[in-house]
Amino acid sequence: MMTEAKMENIPIIELNGVTKEYGSEKGFFSKCEKKVIAMDNISLKIERGEIFGLVGQSGSGKTTAGRLLVKLEEPTKGVIKLNGVPVTDLCGKALRKYRSRVQMIFQDPYQSLNPHLSISETVSEPLVVHKIGDRRLRREKVILTLETVGLTPGTEYYNRYPHQLSGGQRQRVAIARAIIPDPEFIVADEPTSMLDATIAIQLLHLLTDIRKKVNMTFLFITHNLAAARYLCDRIAVIHNGVIVETGLAGDIISNPQHPYTQKLIQAQPGFSFIA
Ligand SMILES: Nc1ncnc2c1ncn2[C@@H]1O[C@H](COP(=O)(O)OP(=O)(O)OP(=O)(O)O)[C@@H](O)[C@H]1O
Ligand SMILES: [Mg+2]
Repeated sequence: MMTEAKMENIPIIELNGVTKEYGSEKGFFSKCEKKVIAMDNISLKIERGEIFGLVGQSGSGKTTAGRLLVKLEEPTKGVIKLNGVPVTDLCGKALRKYRSRVQMIFQDPYQSLNPHLSISETVSEPLVVHKIGDRRLRREKVILTLETVGLTPGTEYYNRYPHQLSGGQRQRVAIARAIIPDPEFIVADEPTSMLDATIAIQLLHLLTDIRKKVNMTFLFITHNLAAARYLCDRIAVIHNGVIVETGLAGDIISNPQHPYTQKLIQAQPGFSFIA
């Protein structure tokens, strides 16, 4: 067993030479497909407790990185580690544990919530799946978590269904579902890009509050540099599946070194806050 002091010194997440190719798998339908390299030999480290931004334009490979991190997909090459332990070969109990410790918030709050499940069923699902608590404790925890994400009073939202909520409220439910099993690491994939600017800003405030309250580490995926500068400690800029620049968010935005980052900044004059 690793002691807590030793754990402090190793990054929570580490990618070593991670490549993801689509269309390279040999199969009946895929053999004629053109290969797409969504992530190309990416190495990076995410430190415990930080909000790390992955910033890039559409198609640059951001969601692919998120999907690999939550093990919705596997890398073609390279190793992903959680707390120094490779996650590639996890199975059985270890894989179930990983799935509760690493959560993802998706971009589209209209697609990511099951319309047939009530808010209480949606938010308590990770507790049920991972056998955390009994019925009473789960109910209490769901109400508390709904209130943590700003759905107050929690009892008012408990029995509602997704179609009875606004987009911003749905995304709060998605955040509640992600944080309820007390994960160590959360991937938030453009969680505000489908929302009005004012609602988007409220959600960014909420994510900063959550980070202050609980000891969670976030990967915040965005195409919006203003959102990244507001929320993130460090950022990596991704272009065509390659990380072109990594550093403190403020440094990169005030003094970008790579021509692609410079172009990205010029392309968002005035840093509009439509995250
Ligand atoms: N399942 C898949 N099969 C084939 N190609 C894919 C698949 N998923 C993603 N890709 C390709 O991989 C590349 C990266 O896609 P990805 O979704 O990671 O980009 P993104 O940065 O999240 O873009 P956006 O900002 O539009 O969400 C794109 O060229 C995309 O077409
Ligand atoms: Mg994406």
